[in-house]
Amino acid sequence: MGTDGFWDDAERHLVRYGGAFAPVVVERAAGSFVYDSAGRAILDFTSGQMSAVLGHSHPDVVATVRESIGTLDHLFSGMLSRPVVDLARELAASLPDPLERSLLLTTGAESNEAALKMAKLATGGWEIVSFAQSWHGMTGGAASATYSAGRRGYGPPIPGNLAIPAPYPYRSVFGDDWRTELDVAWDLVDRQSAGALAACLVEPILSSGGVLELPPGYLAALRAKCDERGMLLILDEAQTGIARTGTMYAFERDGVVPDILTLSKTLGAGLPLAAVVTSADIEQRCHERGFLFFTTHVSDPLPAAVGLTVLDVVRREGLVSRAAELGGRLRTGLTELASRHDCIGEVRGRGLLQGIELVTDRTTKDPADDLGRAVTTECLDLGLHMNVVQLPGMGGVFRIAPPLTVSDAEVGLGLEILDQALTKAVAP
Ligand SMILES: Cc1ncc(COP(=O)(O)O)c(C=O)c1O
Repeated sequence: MGTDGFWDDAERHLVRYGGAFAPVVVERAAGSFVYDSAGRAILDFTSGQMSAVLGHSHPDVVATVRESIGTLDHLFSGMLSRPVVDLARELAASLPDPLERSLLLTTGAESNEAALKMAKLATGGWEIVSFAQSWHGMTGGAASATYSAGRRGYGPPIPGNLAIPAPYPYRSVFGDDWRTELDVAWDLVDRQSAGALAACLVEPILSSGGVLELPPGYLAALRAKCDERGMLLILDEAQTGIARTGTMYAFERDGVVPDILTLSKTLGAGLPLAAVVTSADIEQRCHERGFLFFTTHVSDPLPAAVGLTVLDVVRREGLVSRAAELGGRLRTGLTELASRHDCIGEVRGRGLLQGIELVTDRTTKDPADDLGRAVTTECLDLGLHMNVVQLPGMGGVFRIAPPLTVSDAEVGLGLEILDQALTKAVAP
C-alpha cells in the first residue's frame, strides 16, 4: 500500500497541534510494533503516547471492547453500571488507605482539572504549586500548572499558580543537595503566596520534563512541606501508574501516600480512560460543598471495562515484576551504550521509563539538540520509534518507555538500533 495523496491531504486539512508529524503513515499496530504503509515494522518504544502498556491490540483488550461496544457502550452521565463500580472497587483494592473513592474520566488533563478543583473546594484555597518542568495537560487548570511548554500567547493562566524547580542534580546549581533546593523553593512559595495555598501537583517522575526522577526521600520532604501549610498533595501518575516503574504506583517506593492520585494514559493502556482517586474524607467534604464535574464521558462503561481488563492483565501476566526486571535489563543496556557513546551525558529513570540525555560535550554538558533530532531520524529509518524532548537549558532527552509486554529480544533489538543510530548520527 502506498501513501497516495496522504501527505497533501494532511497538509491541506489538518490543524498542526504540536511538533512535526512523524514521516510515516501507520496502517496497523500489534504488540510492540506499528507497521507503516510499506509494511515496515517499527518498534514502538513510546508505547503510543506513553500509554499502550499492554502493547497494541492486546487480545484481552480487543475482546473487552468488542463485548462492551455490543452490549454496554455509553450512558447518561448520571447512570451507573457494573464496570464503573467494579473498577472503582479494584482501584481502591490496588491502593493503600485512605485512597478509596474514584471519579472515572477520559484524559489526563481532565483528571488533573478535577483533582485541582477538588483540592480547591476541600481546602478553600486556590494556590497551586507545581514543578517548573511539569506537564499536566492542555485544559485551563492543568495547563496553568504546566510549565514545560505551551504557556505563551493564550492570555492569563489561572491566577495562583506557582512553580518550584524539580530536582535535577545533573544540571541544578544545587547539585545533589535537593534538600536545600527544596527549602529555598518553599521560602519563595511562602513569600509569593496570597495565603491561599491549596495543593501541590507533581509527577513522581517528570516524563515530558526530561525523565527527572524524584530522589529517594524527596516525596516525603514534599509531603511535609504540604502538611506544614495545610495543602493537599496531588500525584499525577499518568505515565508512572499501573506497573511501569516496577511498582504498581511510583509513589510506593517512597512510602508516601498522596491525598489525591490521578491516573490516565496507562490505566486505559491506550484507550481514553482516566481516574481521580481520593479519600472518603476529601470526597465527602467536596460533595458537601457542591463538587461538580459532570462530563459527557464521566462513568462511561466501555472505558471502565477496559480499565478492569488492564488491571486484570497486569495481575495475571505479573507485569509489575516484569517491568522491574526488564527495566533493569534496559538500564544495563543503556548504561553500556553510555560507556561507548560520549554524547550520552546521563541515563536516568526507573523500570520501563528510562531517559538518556544527549550532550555535545560531557564536561560542559552543552545541549545536543541537533543530535537529538538526527538520532530520532536514524532510529526511525532503522525501525525504532523514540521520542526526544527538547526543553530550554536541557540537552535532547530520549524517553524510552516500551510496553510492559515487550520481550527480551525486542529490548535487545531496540538497544541495537539505538547503538547504530547514535554511531551514524555522530559521524554521518
Ligand atoms: C504526567 C502527565 N499528566 C497529564 C498529561 C495529560 O494527559 P492528556 O494528554 O491525556 O490530557 C500528560 C500527557 O502527556 C502527562 O504526561
